[in-house]
Amino acid sequence: MVGSLAETETECLVAVVLDHGEKQKNEPKLATKDAALEKAAAELAASGEITGKLFETVMLHHPQGLKAKRLLLVGAGKAKNFSHTELRKAAGTAVRFLKPKMIKSCAFAVPELSAGPEDAVRSLVEGAFIANFDPDTYRSDRKDLRMKSIAVVAPAGSDQAKYQRIIDQARAVGESQNFARELVNEPSNRLTPTALADRAKEMCASVGLKCEIMRPDKIKELKMGAFWSVAQGSDEEPRLIVMRYEPEGAPEKPVLGLIGKGVTFDTGGISIKPADGMEKMKYDMAGGAAMIGAMRAIALLKPKVKVISIVCATENMPSGKAQKPGDVQIAMSGKAIEIINTDAEGRLVLADGLHYARTLGCTHLIDAATLTGACVVALGMVNAGAFANDEDAYQHFSQALQRSGEKFWRLPLDPEYQEMIRSNIADIVNSGGRWGGAITAAMFLKEFVEETPWIHLDIAGLAWMEENKSWIAKGPSGIGVRSLVEFVKTFERNGN
Ligand code: BES
Ligand code: MN
Ligand code: ZN
Repeated sequence: MVGSLAETETECLVAVVLDHGEKQKNEPKLATKDAALEKAAAELAASGEITGKLFETVMLHHPQGLKAKRLLLVGAGKAKNFSHTELRKAAGTAVRFLKPKMIKSCAFAVPELSAGPEDAVRSLVEGAFIANFDPDTYRSDRKDLRMKSIAVVAPAGSDQAKYQRIIDQARAVGESQNFARELVNEPSNRLTPTALADRAKEMCASVGLKCEIMRPDKIKELKMGAFWSVAQGSDEEPRLIVMRYEPEGAPEKPVLGLIGKGVTFDTGGISIKPADGMEKMKYDMAGGAAMIGAMRAIALLKPKVKVISIVCATENMPSGKAQKPGDVQIAMSGKAIEIINTDAEGRLVLADGLHYARTLGCTHLIDAATLTGACVVALGMVNAGAFANDEDAYQHFSQALQRSGEKFWRLPLDPEYQEMIRSNIADIVNSGGRWGGAITAAMFLKEFVEETPWIHLDIAGLAWMEENKSWIAKGPSGIGVRSLVEFVKTFERNGN
């Protein structure tokens, strides 16, 4: 909405406070220049109870001179470091602060941001929606704490229609990220490969995307020997999910291929994982979920770029039918793979997914997968891993990161690593051993993209939040969705 903050009727008006002080000194100031707001917060400011430090929250009832019932001040740190990333989290912090108090609606004052008011509104809305998600779906005494209405108050005289468009788009992105999180949150007994395909199909129907689901017969007919080798050990049938976004007026090229690892449960197979923590392997389809979420947002945002998304959905199980270490499998591309470790299954399903995307005419590929524990060892839970075989494609991705605020760190793909995945009996092995495990996994995928420009995202460390944060719940994070959407949008802006 556009109008005056003083006149805004809401359960709670939310404003950001920044610290303009040097180093240790605090100099808190409202990030929104508004006389009524400043007056309402003056007494509190004088009391020294607000410092502006990151994600500090101070709430005031009956703020003087405002029609709002409450005023919530959220700290967003040092003014000189303030960007859309802090703002997204500050907005999330406000929502997660208000939710347990059963406050169902709030309105945000738009802060001044060096990137401009449009970016400010976009990050506010994204952050608020992301914060509105909680994972306790199956708790029998679950209370629905969700915020029902989130408003943004742009200064009087702003272009209402323009802001509404930005709000709608940011909402589409935030809700799509939450959709991906819902899928990741589901346990593997409820979200089998078949169920994942059904959910994708349902989503596609609701936003007008084409969706094709391929069953075992078709997967075998396509000679997807790498994908099939993982699926063969499970009683649950695999599914190959193909979603298409082909808008009218989009150029013939580029055609972007979004490929996701959809392992709905990873036991490790015959190279079975230890029991400790195995329950977490329900999130081994987070890369696939990110693609499904991104496709939803893309269908709603309607960029003029062709996008095809492929999710290889299967379980990785030990059984009498499961593949064994030493087995040799022929991938769809014709490459022969010696299986060293059946737990290195993600790269097998992606090998065929990536190759298939090329046969469908994709000119650029991007994949996301909870691929390696080694990536978590290398980067911890702060950055996810990114790899690229093409500088131009990486430029697009890097621009996307600047808008999404998601953290990825690029890792190398030197040809020397190739030796580590050489096989004695076949073309390549599926495990390069301990050293540089995230890199040798990426090198394996590289064998299947050949010369096609390609980005690989290893999200193993970030797809699941180990702790509650003030701006996001513990559990599935939905990482990747925002960057994938922004990645696609960069091709609309500057072609290929
Ligand atoms: N899904 C796992 C990777 C993973 C580990 C994701 C931890 C999230 C958290 C993957 O399929 C796997 O098991 N990778 C192996 C590869 C190894 C056998 C070469 C790994 O990382 O240990
Ligand atoms: Mn595995
Ligand atoms: Zn896995």
